[in-house]
Amino acid sequence: MFLPGVIPPIIRAVFDFNPEVFAVSVTLKSLLALSLSALCVALIATPAGAAVKDEIAARLQPAGVSCVFGEPCAAGLKVPGAENLAPRSGEEVYGTFCQACHASGANNAPLFANVDAWAPRIAKGIDALYDSGINGFNNGAMPVRGTCVNCSDDEIKAAVDHMVAAAEPK
Ligand code: HEC
Repeated sequence: MFLPGVIPPIIRAVFDFNPEVFAVSVTLKSLLALSLSALCVALIATPAGAAVKDEIAARLQPAGVSCVFGEPCAAGLKVPGAENLAPRSGEEVYGTFCQACHASGANNAPLFANVDAWAPRIAKGIDALYDSGINGFNNGAMPVRGTCVNCSDDEIKAAVDHMVAAAEPK
């Protein structure tokens, strides 16, 4: 039932086969293939192609390539517990930890850049303020290290300097 329907077209196709037309279409196809591959070669030769090549090279990297500190691939890499390899600036420490209270006045913290609030404290001398920053002040109202537990003494001092400088009478 099915076969008889299929066989005539096949037979017709075999008889209709025209070598000339076939040759032309083969030539067209190979021309097309040639120009396509030329296009590919041209693309790979362009900067965009180079980027593609780099991407492929990156994908082909074995998993677990070792990357050593100081190499470009290690940029932004952090060793747990060694966050302060490079000391943070006073501004950075202030912005990350201290401003939680000193920008809002929480617990009556002296407000950042408020000359009046800071004047009596600055009058105690910078060492007293460093001490308050490092060891806390008033039974923890000002917490030890201002909550920056992994800040070095120098980083806390830099943050205190930053706050004092902002509150100095102009
Ligand atoms: C949890 C809130 C809080 C955080 C966070 C905080 N402080 Fe304070 N700080 C206070 C309060 C409250 C006071 C005022 C304490 C008082 O006089 O009773 C204070 C006071 C101070 C003083 C003045 C102390 C004195 O001897 O008069 C310094 C200096 C200071 N803070 C530095 C810092 C630094 C530096 C940081 C960040 C590393 C920081 N604080 C983070 C709450 C905070």
